[in-house]
Amino acid sequence: MKNLERTNHVDEISIIPTGGAVGAEIRGVDLALPLDVDCVTRIKQAIWDHCVLFFRDQQIDETQQVRFTQYFGQAVPHVRKQRDRPVEEIFIVSNVKENGEEIGALGNAEISFHSDLSYLRKPGTLSFLYAVEVPRTGGATQWVNCYQAYETLSDSMKERLLGLRAVHRHYVEEQNPPKLVDHPIVRTHPETGHQSLYVGPHLTKSIVGFDEAESRTLLEELYSHIMQPQFIWTHEWQVGDLLVWDNRPTMHRREPFPQTERRVMRRTQIFGDEIPVE
Ligand code: SIN
Repeated sequence: MKNLERTNHVDEISIIPTGGAVGAEIRGVDLALPLDVDCVTRIKQAIWDHCVLFFRDQQIDETQQVRFTQYFGQAVPHVRKQRDRPVEEIFIVSNVKENGEEIGALGNAEISFHSDLSYLRKPGTLSFLYAVEVPRTGGATQWVNCYQAYETLSDSMKERLLGLRAVHRHYVEEQNPPKLVDHPIVRTHPETGHQSLYVGPHLTKSIVGFDEAESRTLLEELYSHIMQPQFIWTHEWQVGDLLVWDNRPTMHRREPFPQTERRVMRRTQIFGDEIPVE
């Protein structure tokens, strides 16, 4: 009953940019409560402006996380099924084992830069990650601003990339579609109209029409450009953080952490459309 009496107001929302390559903190919102259309419009615009948003000190259950996700599109179960999930749209990212079984996915090792679900024909757009338990050391997540990475390429490199496509593949073979998909290396954001680089070392396999050596050389060149510190912002997690990021103009990397520490995160995701050929 108590929650029904309170509500979020757009006038109480403040947006505090991190001052880094991406990111802003959103204050004045309680994600356990519903949001009206004005609040959602303001938060959406903040995503387009800052690519990654974080909300601190949120106490939300799985259903409330799915409700928040649904304001931005259709929350869909992850392609990798997890057993006995009470709320099927929630995907657990964790290194914790209970009774000898992993309660989630992705362990404690580094996960290098990638854009979520890029191995699908209709890849991820927004991802939402809520911190239930965080390690005392390690396990931060970094985002890279792929708009900036694209804009700062030389004109000759921009010209070289025109029309090129890259094949994306997940290392867990069963997660891939029967035929591996390819996407443009440079994509245009449907909301902002800006172009960004769309390749990363974790999920990009090769460039269509290039031999292996040529493909590796060009991808390595792009990765060294993308991974320059000025394009990267790091988030150190606290329990109760909810982060939402746009996978189209960013990639992210998870830092490793000791297996003796517990890290439990809940993820929800929205799949997008096929990326149009330009
Ligand atoms: C992911 O790559 O989706 C997981 C990120 C994280 O665990 O910080």
